[in-house]
Amino acid sequence: MTDPIQTIPVRTTPGYTVAIGPGLLDQCGRRLREVLSPCRVAVITDSNVGPLYLDRARASLEEAGFDVCSFTFPAGEGSKNLGTLSRMLEFLAEERLTRVDCVAALGGGVTGDMAGLAAALYLRGVRYIQLPTSLLAAVDSSVGGKTAVDLSAGKNLAGAFLQPAAVLCDTDCLGTLTPEYFADGAAEAIKTGVLCEESLFALFEEGKAAPGSDALPRVIARCVAYKAGVVERDEKEQGERKLLNLGHTAGHAIEKCSGFAIPHGHAVAAGMGVIARAAEVLGWAKEPLADRIAACLARNGLPAGTDFSPEELARAALSDKKRAGDTITLVVPERIGHCVLKKLPVAELLPVIRAGMGR
Ligand code: GLY
Repeated sequence: MTDPIQTIPVRTTPGYTVAIGPGLLDQCGRRLREVLSPCRVAVITDSNVGPLYLDRARASLEEAGFDVCSFTFPAGEGSKNLGTLSRMLEFLAEERLTRVDCVAALGGGVTGDMAGLAAALYLRGVRYIQLPTSLLAAVDSSVGGKTAVDLSAGKNLAGAFLQPAAVLCDTDCLGTLTPEYFADGAAEAIKTGVLCEESLFALFEEGKAAPGSDALPRVIARCVAYKAGVVERDEKEQGERKLLNLGHTAGHAIEKCSGFAIPHGHAVAAGMGVIARAAEVLGWAKEPLADRIAACLARNGLPAGTDFSPEELARAALSDKKRAGDTITLVVPERIGHCVLKKLPVAELLPVIRAGMGR
């Protein structure tokens, strides 16, 4: 019988393994023992995920000899701020975690980003592991070591790079996602398809990667393998890793303009729709792709546009960290499965967004 657990190495320094498959939450203690001696583990989770999975993670960790404490914060992007981070750090100190101890992020993208940043800051850095429970965290945010909180000025503006010691993605956890949370993760997987593989995109286009589908572990593994390669070549986003920001320039702007009421994946989907349309209108795309991307997003419960004006989006985008001085780097789809980086003067961003919105 084939092993249902797929493992993907991420060859950063230090490197780690991403394990993907069913039942991993109940094995997390045993699997963590493969990389860590018994120590104190602070599990950080949110008010949606904690009631579902914290007891099981705790039981598995304790059975493997870890001493467990836990911190739960209110679920949602509204918690991804310096106030919550400060409470996490105070908790780690009150629990007297030391440099040999470990933080475990149990949850989706917000939990992983914030627990990772707390681990990067506490005692100038302790180890952390990712236990992603959302599709978005599984296909994207749990891998690659980006950690952050939002500031009033924008998304993920305070953060650090710190690679986790391990990622254990229990695909059974995807079964409790609401359709909206599932769609949020589908957006990042569709993004990966547009970046690197038309057949991955086609799974979503044909409705073959719906909630509960057998294709999901394969989808997650493909997304993680692609991202692992990019991160190995460009861990600190000096070049190639910027490609992973496809849809994020307008996407982050949409999140910010909505006061973070529009979830990340939905905003990225809309951002992808805008840049795909712009690529076609401006002659950057080498094949017609905007209608195809919009139809794929719609089939998966995602928007391909937004009601915010191009002016509002351009203003918000220019406070994003993808701006460097007077230039901004856009990720432009040339074909489904191939994108390029395009550096533009910031003054050209508004016309590009207008083109992408047909204005
Ligand atoms: N989510 C994009 C990255 O990790 O670079």
